[in-house]
Amino acid sequence: MRILVIGAGQMGSGIAQVCAAHGHTVLLNDVDAAAIERGRQAIARNLARQVEKGRLTAAEAQVIQARIGPQLLLSRGLEADIAIEAASEDQHLKRRIFAELDAVLPPSAILASNTSSISITLLGAATKRPERVIGMHFMNPVPVMKLVEVIRGLVTTDETVSAVMQFARDLGKTPVAVNDFPGFVSNRVLMPMLNEAMFACQEGVATPEAIDTIMKLGMNHPMGPLELADFIGLDTCLAILDVLHEGLGDPKYRPCPLLRKMVAAGHLGKKTGRGFYTYG
Ligand code: CAA
Repeated sequence: MRILVIGAGQMGSGIAQVCAAHGHTVLLNDVDAAAIERGRQAIARNLARQVEKGRLTAAEAQVIQARIGPQLLLSRGLEADIAIEAASEDQHLKRRIFAELDAVLPPSAILASNTSSISITLLGAATKRPERVIGMHFMNPVPVMKLVEVIRGLVTTDETVSAVMQFARDLGKTPVAVNDFPGFVSNRVLMPMLNEAMFACQEGVATPEAIDTIMKLGMNHPMGPLELADFIGLDTCLAILDVLHEGLGDPKYRPCPLLRKMVAAGHLGKKTGRGFYTYG
């Protein structure tokens, strides 16, 4: 299949890599050529690691990389079976992208969003094909994590859901279908835990290291909540908590003021080198 991936950041490049590794042709789009190139380089580094570990030959890695082409412009006549949008968590931006995808892609194309919390129904309403709009929420790091949370908008058809579930299985993932509700299931359950760890840190209950060690060793989590928040991106965590807070109207989802302050300071976690921890 031909897959159009919108956004060449951490998630978009991971999605592009997994699609190409499973034989699909990928068109990778972003706002400028430099952003696409950074995404392609991240994929090249990941593939090189696989080669070092002996999981891929250098020739196989090259074939995978060659399946991913840059697609700077979204113009009429563009051919793709599925578009997967992985832009920033901003509903205005995503609605604009969905309207544009609807205008340029063939009517048969499925329009999927990797959004972690924004309403699929709302994105569908920006198009003339809401029945073919769906959530495909991959987890970070995309090449490693098995889950794809598949989100059915209010008018998404059974046909679209089954096609996307099968597509996710063909990518070696385990899809789980859920209904469209703020934060879906993954982030409705995950984010309150990360937020609570931030409140504990803000109140001086313990240091970030202590909080993370307690959750890693005490609950067998692979990463502590603050390390995980840094890994996801503190701006993304804040955007998701805002969606949960506004969408569900319950004060239990209010974002921790420390999180807001860190985002305001530009301390966004691993990607900016500074969050609850500092990164080299
Ligand atoms: N890209 C690709 N592969 C990666 C990677 C990356 N960024 N980071 C690690 N890996 C691979 C490694 O190459 C390694 O592969 P092999 O086993 O094939 O050798 C494997 O992952 C394990 O890596 P490491 O041994 O280096 O490190 P680890 O054992 O500490 O695992 C981890 C790293 C997989 C990231 C693990 O810490 C983990 O599972 N963390 C939790 C991740 C998580 O919760 N993700 C969900 C976040 S929420 C989200 O994404 C959705 C949202 O809406 C916010």
